[in-house]
Amino acid sequence: MAPPAPSITSDAITGRLSEIAAAVGTPCYVYDADAIRAAYATLDDAFGGYPHAIHYALKANSALAVVRLLHSLGSHADANSLGEVDVALRCGFRPEQIVFTGVGKSAAEIDRAVALGLLAINVESSGELDRIDQRAVAQGTVARVALRVNPDIDARSHPHISTGLRSNKFGVPIDEAPALFREMASRRGLTPIGAHVHIGSQITTLDPLTRAAEAVVALAQQLRAGGMALQHLDMGGGLGISYDGGPVVDPAEYVRALVDATRGSGLKVAIEPGRVLVGPAGVLLTRVVDVKQFPGAKRFVVVDAGMTELMRPALYNAYHRIEPVAPRAGESVVVDIVGPICESTDAYARDRRLPPVEVGDLIRVRDVGAYGAAMGHTYLRRPLSPEVMTEQGQWRVIRRRQTLDELLSLESE
Ligand code: LLP
Repeated sequence: MAPPAPSITSDAITGRLSEIAAAVGTPCYVYDADAIRAAYATLDDAFGGYPHAIHYALKANSALAVVRLLHSLGSHADANSLGEVDVALRCGFRPEQIVFTGVGKSAAEIDRAVALGLLAINVESSGELDRIDQRAVAQGTVARVALRVNPDIDARSHPHISTGLRSNKFGVPIDEAPALFREMASRRGLTPIGAHVHIGSQITTLDPLTRAAEAVVALAQQLRAGGMALQHLDMGGGLGISYDGGPVVDPAEYVRALVDATRGSGLKVAIEPGRVLVGPAGVLLTRVVDVKQFPGAKRFVVVDAGMTELMRPALYNAYHRIEPVAPRAGESVVVDIVGPICESTDAYARDRRLPPVEVGDLIRVRDVGAYGAAMGHTYLRRPLSPEVMTEQGQWRVIRRRQTLDELLSLESE
């Protein structure tokens, strides 16, 4: 365990937040490019020369400017849909830098992934193995594949974002892996190049991650003993960040643990981090639109962002630090900070201490760089909010606010 990395976001760009909110309106997301650079460098440096590839998990935040930034840093890409594959290509990634995962790949997705010649299609089942083989043979090509194994390890994260137990839908049971690898090797349309594991997200203890790594290394060694050499071990993503300021796993320590687990095999390590690269780099700016007190009961601070801009509290009861950008003097009070959406689950925080606020005050919600805008939606016909990137004291809009006309443009009456 190490103390949490200081939230660079909070310090470097605080001075600009009021200016940004005034210019682009609220709600809006602000990402600090310098924080993303620093997070990438921490992971990359920790490999200390051991062969590796960092495949940024686009699902965390696939804003073109963010993906381009990661590409410019030397990252590779992890895509979970054809849309994400295309975003990665558009941002400069070559097909052989992209791994493609997905628990239910459509025929169109398989077809295109095979045609592109991605670094690896991560195979989720024996049926999918068949389908990829068939499409590759039909196209007269050979697809590089990795097998996603389910090691039955509890990530000890929120159950909604845990993926490594037998009761989760992901991958194939690890004890079935050797037979499936033999099967893949026997197919004309497939070349097995790796094993893949991803046991969950927002994992805050090292032990499950290390155990998952050890399980795939043991599998690779078993395969090698049987005459099959893999090229990489894809350890997935999942490293958690500190949403509440408490201690979490130090990213460098995490990388060193993976390398320690793998070194004996000599195999290249791939990882698919999302949250740890971009999460702490983002804030959501929102304004107070109402404050109301129920006599003898709750005090509500209603803000103009809600579950449409940040799903995490509603979906996982997730904690995000929330604070006024310019705190007023006075006693802090216990409030519920809620959004404007007509659902009771649309609350960012319950029974939270907040300095006094008034209608119009600017509030920031921290650590929304991952799974914030990426999971945004347009319920209640709320257009998507703008995204801003700051870099060395400068800022620019990387996505403007959607207009209602754009939102309705797909429809006819
Ligand atoms: N690789 C695979 C196969 C994944 O499924 C995921 C995340 C990642 C990598 C990246 O994981 P990360 O390093 O970001 O933890 N919406 C949830 C998180 C869902 C994660 C889904 N898979 C949240 O807001 O917490």
